[in-house]
Parts: sequence; C-alpha cells; structure tokens
Amino acid sequence: GADVEVDISAIEPGQLIRVMWRSKPVWIVRRTPEILAELATHEDKLRDPASENEQQPAFAKNQWRSMKEEYLILVGICTHLGCSPQHMKDGAFEEYVEGVPDGFFCPCHGSKFDMAGRVFENVPAPLNLVVPPYQFVDDTTVIIG
Ligand code: FES
Repeated sequence: GADVEVDISAIEPGQLIRVMWRSKPVWIVRRTPEILAELATHEDKLRDPASENEQQPAFAKNQWRSMKEEYLILVGICTHLGCSPQHMKDGAFEEYVEGVPDGFFCPCHGSKFDMAGRVFENVPAPLNLVVPPYQFVDDTTVIIG
C-alpha cells in the first residue's frame, strides 16, 4: 500500500493542501484557533457531532476528529455520492450555514460539512467525511496510510 509522506511545514494558518493517497484526494488543513473555537458553537446543527456512527481511527474520536488539534486530515470525498466538496473560508460558508464562517460545501447536491468534516443536518450526505489513517513522524511530517 502506497503510503504518502507529506511535508506540512509550509501550510499557512487557514490553508488547505491536497495530496493523493490510494487514488483518493486527501485534504490537510491547518486550522486557526478561531476555526477550532468555532467547532464548539454549532454542534446542535450536526447529524453526528461526536462521530458515533463513523468508521475512523481511534485517535480521531475527539471533538477535533484529529490527532493534533491544529491539523485536520480528511478524505476529500462527499459521503453522499462521491463528489468533491469545496473549501469555503473566511466567511464564505455563511451563505450555506448562518453563523458558521468556514466549512465544506458539496456542489453536487448541497451537502455541508464543518471544519472537522462533520455533516450538517438536512442534507443528503449520511455520514461525516472520512478520517484516513495517518501518523506524524515529526512536527512537520505526516504519513498518510
Ligand atoms: Fe455530495 Fe451528493 S455527492 S451532496
């Protein structure tokens, strides 16, 4: 299995980078303190805020859905029918969910996810976005797989 090593040292706060892992797009987002704080403010609008129904690595069973709070790592494939959600940032997501400035919007059928990949209610996607297996080799190097 082709595991992918990624240097994350150049990711700016708020930025998303894409890598390919086993023919799938994987996103790595460096979340700002503001984005992390925001995650606690809209849990009542989520289908599965604690990710109880998800298949995911044990290390991601926390409110950040990640090993390190700052870095969100997700398979960038909508859990409805496999389209590629778009990263909407710096207030652009408010058009889709009032009061939530950052998130992911799937243009195919309108599913919406927050900055932990958690799906909002009343959209077609049934599940939160998938957290792939990964590990940190050091502070700035992560291996997906
Ligand atoms: Fe994303 Fe349908 S594939 S909403």
